[in-house]
Amino acid sequence: MSNAADQSEETPVIELKDVRVHFKARAGSLFRPKIVKAVDGVDFSVRRGETIGIVGESGCGKSTMASVLVGLQAPTSGQRLFRGRPLGPRAAERRAFGRAVTMVFQDASTALNPRMTVHDILVDPLRVHGVGDTASRTRRVHELLELVGLPSSAAEVSPTQISGGQRQRVAIARALALEPEVVVADEPTSALDVSVRAQVLNLLSDLKSRLNLGMVFISHDIQTVRYVSDRICVMNGGRIVEEGPAQQVFDSPADAYTRTLLGAAPSLLHLAPEEDRGTHELRTKENA
Ligand SMILES: Nc1ncnc2c1ncn2[C@@H]1O[C@H](COP(=O)(O)OP(=O)(O)O)[C@@H](O)[C@H]1O
Ligand SMILES: [Mg+2]
Repeated sequence: MSNAADQSEETPVIELKDVRVHFKARAGSLFRPKIVKAVDGVDFSVRRGETIGIVGESGCGKSTMASVLVGLQAPTSGQRLFRGRPLGPRAAERRAFGRAVTMVFQDASTALNPRMTVHDILVDPLRVHGVGDTASRTRRVHELLELVGLPSSAAEVSPTQISGGQRQRVAIARALALEPEVVVADEPTSALDVSVRAQVLNLLSDLKSRLNLGMVFISHDIQTVRYVSDRICVMNGGRIVEEGPAQQVFDSPADAYTRTLLGAAPSLLHLAPEEDRGTHELRTKENA
């Protein structure tokens, strides 16, 4: 498809340079507006074939950063580069970006239209980008379903008729429809039952290697990011306070905040009351 193949592996697909996103908070007064520095001077890059975990407590700016990465939020200052260049105003360029960088959200039950069938949900991006005809789009839908481990019959149902894990698989399939270079997944397993979390994590990690995707994997839970990430960025107060190979960040965290986060991680998990059901149900604290 694109020129991805001849693009140097060294050129990041997306790059952020000293990006800031500041919001006017409601709490401020007319004369002294309070500014929320959701993202406050972030440098970041992601290439094909690598998974970067972004981890930090609720409110540290992860989702705002994700929105900047996929172009849903313009930075207050700083730059976002696509394949090494700022994105120009040309429609073709913006379409290329829209194909190359896609997103998976936390809650598939709100991200997917309940009035559409799974088939229509998966065809939608192909239609919007004018890819293929009716027959080839339907073939692609079945390919995508197979890719994410759903049966062909899933095409005929609505997202309300399937489980949360299956819905998230549909959301992942939709994100893959246009053969993206980078997928940004914001808390993709946080809304799921613990029993299916690992399956969805494994699926994402498997797809990343099979499709040579770049993946940005965001979670408030450091243990979730640990096993799927090549590199980890720890965020606190809108900044990346530590960055490095996953192993290194875990084994010898340089930053005091990272050490706190690592120390705090087990306490984010607590056992549900029904311990005697055999499977210990672990719940993580809900991320606001
Ligand atoms: N649209 C907005 N307007 C005002 N404040 C916002 C907006 N979006 C996010 N914020 C604030 O920015 C900070 C970071 O939020 P967010 O990026 O959602 O964090 P996270 O995803 O890490 O939980 C929070 O203090 C949040 O309240
Ligand atoms: Mg968030």
